[in-house]
Amino acid sequence: MKHVQDFKVKTYRWLNDENYILTLQGESLETEILPGNFAEIRVPGIADVFLRRPISILDFNPTENTISFYIKAIGKGTRQLGELQIGETISIVYPLGNSYSVVEEGKALLVGGGSGIAPFIQLGRELKKRNIQTTFLIGGRTKNDVFLTDEFSEFGEVLVTTEDGSRGEKGFVTHHSVFSGDFDFNKIYTCGPDPMMKAIAKIAGEKNINCEASLENMMACGIGACLCCVTPTVNGNKVVCTEGTVFNTKELGW
Ligand SMILES: Cc1cc2nc3c(=O)[nH]c(=O)nc-3n(C[C@H](O)[C@H](O)[C@H](O)COP(=O)(O)OP(=O)(O)OC[C@H]3O[C@@H](n4cnc5c(N)ncnc54)[C@H](O)[C@@H]3O)c2cc1C
Ligand code: FES
Repeated sequence: MKHVQDFKVKTYRWLNDENYILTLQGESLETEILPGNFAEIRVPGIADVFLRRPISILDFNPTENTISFYIKAIGKGTRQLGELQIGETISIVYPLGNSYSVVEEGKALLVGGGSGIAPFIQLGRELKKRNIQTTFLIGGRTKNDVFLTDEFSEFGEVLVTTEDGSRGEKGFVTHHSVFSGDFDFNKIYTCGPDPMMKAIAKIAGEKNINCEASLENMMACGIGACLCCVTPTVNGNKVVCTEGTVFNTKELGW
């Protein structure tokens, strides 16, 4: 069930000068939060940022009534969300969207880049609960763009690629040696920039492996009312914020 709820800023954890984890605390917390769900966050304090910003739910803690977000500051809203006072009030609408389907057996590969890594904490935890052998493949431009790998290592093996070779294997995620030789994964989950997800979907198609991708289309309302986030699929147009954000890549025609 969706909630519109006020939270207070509890902590900031800065990963570098433009990436941070924002943790909010409420008087209560909806705990039916699934891997891939997102929230629409109102940005307080700037008059011309009136649309809420869609941000994936990184993690939540029902004991402390906290919910956290991994945010890359790229514009007015995401910068302002990084500059609030501790204790300041933020309104969020959550949990929104569908979720990744968590496999019950086999081996899972999670491929992410940029802020697309956010859903992988919850997804990794759910896969671990089911004893699924899980590998995270995280890509970045340089070693300074690769985050949360210590957190992911709690749930499985972590592989890294960087375009300049400063960490892990050199190149894009699609160039990683995990895709050559004995490739025995039976599920791929991906989230990140569209070109990366399309390239991963292509590999999944060639290997005949089920693949799910989470789309980050431009959004306004986040609740299916404005239709600005619609995407074409082989089954007709779909509203990404309510019928996604997670789709099977075959449905997307990728
Ligand atoms: C479902 C979903 C989950 C997301 N999860 C995360 C996350 O976990 N962490 C994170 O850092 N970012 C995430 N994003 C992206 C984030 O919503 C945008 O970076 C943010 O809205 C930009 O707002 P801004 O005011 O800082 O930028 P603006 O100054 O408004 O614009 C800067 C750039 O952001 C893009 N943008 C602006 N508004 C939106 C919007 N409503 N939706 C998508 N793109 C937009 C614009 O095209 C522009 O290129 C997610 C987006 C979606 C749709
Ligand atoms: S953002 Fe309004 S319908 Fe999806």
